[in-house]
Amino acid sequence: MQQANKQNGRAAMGLNHVSYADDDLDIIKDVSGFLPEGKITTFVGPSGAGKTTIFRLLNGLISPTQGDIHLFGENIQTMEPTALRRTVGIALQDATMLRGTVYKNLAMPKTLQNQALEQDEAKHLLTQVGLDASFLNRDVTDLSGGQRQKISIARTLVNRPKVLLLDEITSSLDRISTSEVEHLIQHVNKEFSVTIAWITHNLDQALHIGDYTWVMMNGELIESGSTDILKNPVNPQVQEFIKGEG
Ligand SMILES: Nc1ncnc2c1ncn2[C@@H]1O[C@H](COP(=O)(O)OP(=O)(O)O)[C@@H](O)[C@H]1O
Ligand SMILES: [Mg+2]
Repeated sequence: MQQANKQNGRAAMGLNHVSYADDDLDIIKDVSGFLPEGKITTFVGPSGAGKTTIFRLLNGLISPTQGDIHLFGENIQTMEPTALRRTVGIALQDATMLRGTVYKNLAMPKTLQNQALEQDEAKHLLTQVGLDASFLNRDVTDLSGGQRQKISIARTLVNRPKVLLLDEITSSLDRISTSEVEHLIQHVNKEFSVTIAWITHNLDQALHIGDYTWVMMNGELIESGSTDILKNPVNPQVQEFIKGEG
């Protein structure tokens, strides 16, 4: 799946005829598509369409029943799971935290590798997500939803991922925090050339944040391409979906 096309450069990750079934239930059906390197790709589609399942496949939490997935040309099935998860980070809607301090949470990816996170590095991570160093010793239970999400994003940066998967990370945030998190992700994307995949149920967000879009329905990739396809969808099902959301 290295080909991609001229306009969108090469693929950071690609799926090649990927299907996934659980208990004989077809959840992902013959999906081929890619994440253009260095771009933000948004994933839209109705709830239950299979978007989160695609992320779990990309992150190696589950394996395809058929087909294969590539990361910069390498089949992820042949990679060390830990190496894959260091390269492909994931952040979720609820920004799950360990009890304790911000530092403890930021250090978690290192702790899992029996390593320590330097205080200076932790402070640097905080500034990357627009929080000051005084947050380091705060208890995560005292943080707002927006602050927790920023910490969750900072935590994904500890391993210097090449790809970041964001699953509805602004769904429970207010407008201001949402906008801050959007800017933060754009910063991460540009500053570190991290390829972003972002599931959102907000079509406006997809339009203003994304370069490229996947529209998923019923386990299939119905349409993909420049985000402009959301303005003028070709597929009648996509037209219906966008009318319903708009
Ligand atoms: N482990 C599982 N076992 C059975 N069904 C599942 C499992 N995981 C997901 N599904 C089903 O797969 C479909 C896709 O789910 P999901 O990927 O979470 O969709 P989305 O993120 O687009 O809302 C849904 O119908 C869901 O109920
Ligand atoms: Mg989901």
